[in-house]
Amino acid sequence: MATAIQHLDRQVGKEVLIRGWVYNTRSSGKILFLLVRDGTGIVQCPVIQGEVADKIFADAEKLTQESSLEIQGVVREDKRAPGGYEVTVKDLKVFQVAGPYPITPKEHGTAFLMEHRHLWLRSKRQAAILRVRSEIIQAMRDFMAEREFTCLDAPIFTPNACEGTTTLFQTDYFGEKAYLTQSGQLYNEATAAALGKVYCFGPCFRAEKSKTRRHVTEMWMMEPEVAYADLDDMMALSEDLTVYVVERVLSRRMRELKDLERDVSLLEKVRKPFPRIPYDEACEILRKNGVDFQWGGDFGGGDETILANQFDKPFFVHRFPAAVKAFYMKRDPARPEVVLGADMLAPEGYGEIVGGGQREDDLATLEQRIAEEKLPREAFQWYLDLRRYGSVPHAGFGIGVERTVCWICRLDHIRESIPFPRLLEKMYP
Ligand code: 4AD
Ligand code: MG
Repeated sequence: MATAIQHLDRQVGKEVLIRGWVYNTRSSGKILFLLVRDGTGIVQCPVIQGEVADKIFADAEKLTQESSLEIQGVVREDKRAPGGYEVTVKDLKVFQVAGPYPITPKEHGTAFLMEHRHLWLRSKRQAAILRVRSEIIQAMRDFMAEREFTCLDAPIFTPNACEGTTTLFQTDYFGEKAYLTQSGQLYNEATAAALGKVYCFGPCFRAEKSKTRRHVTEMWMMEPEVAYADLDDMMALSEDLTVYVVERVLSRRMRELKDLERDVSLLEKVRKPFPRIPYDEACEILRKNGVDFQWGGDFGGGDETILANQFDKPFFVHRFPAAVKAFYMKRDPARPEVVLGADMLAPEGYGEIVGGGQREDDLATLEQRIAEEKLPREAFQWYLDLRRYGSVPHAGFGIGVERTVCWICRLDHIRESIPFPRLLEKMYP
């Protein structure tokens, strides 16, 4: 069995087997230093001429970047080595000597790296981001399980537009018109009425026609939905979830955060309570910052950045104007021009990572909203049944995995937050 590089600290003084790829090589006289990566980390492996068979040294000299190999060697602690450990090579088996590798340790432009995304993933930085991503996803699932939610995934093919008709990907379903889902929410509302506390976790699709650093067309969303819950419950749940996820990454992925040069003191401030500011107050903040913002509008990317720079931890903006939010949002009985919805914005300029709120539970109002939005009535009959048979106040939200990864890893662009990002005009590799 091969030892994972991340666990070499448990094997000091012992002989181990490492299987991986050459990350880089360096030679200094009679010593050849192989930097080897195995997906869990990178370790320096010196090959010393005279101490290994001549054939091994000759094989080692032929190794190029990304050549695949197996090393048998002894683990030593060495403060100067990257990662703090070294494996002195005793035996070497080469699987393949790689051809000239396109991505060298030098700087490359983003367009070039994106064309080679399938190889770019092997870099230390990309591997660190993806390990944090995996930890975030696992933490989300663990949180939901601890809270006794049932995971019930929603379909990808759907006849329903959940988040408005402008960002739908249409497809043909055996002669019938279908869309790729924008959100599992409507189906969650059905499963919540059946099982109480539910969530779905899957890919969602948005035909976003603008190029931004916050949007992908294929994203992953975790969406909880709770029967007999209101807007405050939704904010409290998403707040607890966010604190849980950040704590998990801090406790288990500190090495990756260090590789990413993330200032973790900012993540350590992610504690309850998160500020809850009404939309009206958010408008005030924007005006004070020189934005000519009219009540009734939706926030653009620039507005979110300004808002998200005002706080040092995530915060909620709630009670948006009904006109800018989806048809299913419940109006505030005290102020019918606003809805009982909330977005959670991440600090450090990141902006929205969570969207959700309380759902319209009255049949007549919902029918009217569907008509106003010119949504096809027939496709929503099943959804209206949920209001016909035992309608209750209920609420939920969706948290975007890529946006969360961007914030926690402090990425400049969403393209690095998912193994193979789908962007406007970009579907390769
Ligand atoms: O605010 P959104 O559109 O809300 C919904 O879809 C609700 N139906 C969810 C629910 O209540 N169950 O999307 C939720 C989150 C956003 O806050 C954002 O994090 C992410 O999904 N998101 C995107 N992330 C990346 N690229 C895009 N194009 C995104 N669109 C939404
Ligand atoms: Mg939203």
